[in-house]
Amino acid sequence: MRIRHGTKVHHHSKPISKIHFIFIFLLLIFTPRVDSSWWYIGALGARVICDNIPGLVNKQRQLCQRHPDLMQSIGEGAKEWIKECQHQFRNHRWNCSTLDRDHTVFGRVMLRSSREAAFVYAISSAGVVYAITRACSQGELKICNCDGQKRGQASDDRGNFDWGGCSDNINYGIKFAKAFVDARERMVKDARALMNLHNNRCGRMAVKRFMKLECKCHGVSGSCSLRTCWLAMADFRRTGDYLRKKYNTAIEVTMNQDGTGFMVADKDFKGSTKNELVYVENSPDYCLTDRPAGSLGTAGRVCNKSSRGTDGCEVMCCGRGYDTMRVKRVTKCECKFKWCCAVECQDCEDLVDVHTCKPHKRPDWLDIT
Ligand SMILES: *[C@@H]1O[C@H](CO)[C@@H](O)[C@H](O)[C@H]1NC(C)=O
Ligand SMILES: *[C@@H]1O[C@H](CO)[C@@H](O)[C@H](O)[C@H]1NC(C)=O
Repeated sequence: MRIRHGTKVHHHSKPISKIHFIFIFLLLIFTPRVDSSWWYIGALGARVICDNIPGLVNKQRQLCQRHPDLMQSIGEGAKEWIKECQHQFRNHRWNCSTLDRDHTVFGRVMLRSSREAAFVYAISSAGVVYAITRACSQGELKICNCDGQKRGQASDDRGNFDWGGCSDNINYGIKFAKAFVDARERMVKDARALMNLHNNRCGRMAVKRFMKLECKCHGVSGSCSLRTCWLAMADFRRTGDYLRKKYNTAIEVTMNQDGTGFMVADKDFKGSTKNELVYVENSPDYCLTDRPAGSLGTAGRVCNKSSRGTDGCEVMCCGRGYDTMRVKRVTKCECKFKWCCAVECQDCEDLVDVHTCKPHKRPDWLDIT
């Protein structure tokens, strides 16, 4: 493990103190392997300085130094995929919450080789592909551009068209995401590394799956006898929805005897795991606050009294019951269309019940000190 310093210009007004330095050094030593710290680039924002990101492996640090502009895109992308993860799991006990100023980003919960970890690895790799591909198309990066392979004529089920405009360079995005994100997993050969590599790939391919052809019509009065088309990525929500479905159907696997691959745990499983998320360990129930395990618990979470799903009070509160609060809600109402062209609304107030999960009762024996 190396720490470089000296000639590097730090964007801090104060010099890094000795204590601070020792702290970073300790972080580097005790950073567990499975904690993918490149996620932290998102929290660093404009302060991406490769030497300051704890837990990057050498290959990642090199890529970071060589392509600072790509790191900027990866950082901005991280905010988006984390938001998407939280959207997908907003009604779940585990809700993809992040820890502030914590370089592990998701906390210890990712140490477990669970279904949730499978999802986070997949969506984070997908997020890198998406962010880099988009930045290439927008001309923000030195190293890539629109897809130059898409030239001349081609055809689809509606006939011939000319390639034109800017096709998203998904292959470059995939290539870089693979080099950067997978670098950490190539250091060790164990079940977790195999699991991460597999799920990272699923994430990358998910973005490619939703590429679509977009066209512009030319020809007499919009007859569309001539078309110019380009390949474009769909909204990232599509990838999020897809991976969320894959989370629901994720497959439990165990490591092969010789450690070169994994086997599906269910002997009756037929088919391929190629496009499925895989996990090694069962998930905790996420009901209780368990800091060592990284579980925040569900005390105080809002639940839906009439739902029988994961957002229902029964499931969300793990049978502990809930508190109900009547709160005033302000909504837009009695909207009128005014000529021309505005809609004017009133503010209406009504009362709604909000249910929140009760905290866990401490068992009596914990009170005995
Ligand atoms: C997720 O759950 C935790 C506690 O269980 C809560 O503090 C947090 O606000 C929730 N986050 C989101 C994004 O809903
Ligand atoms: C609560 O759940 C019910 C049944 O699933 C659903 O119809 C309703 O929209 C939900 N309410 C909220 C506020 O999400």
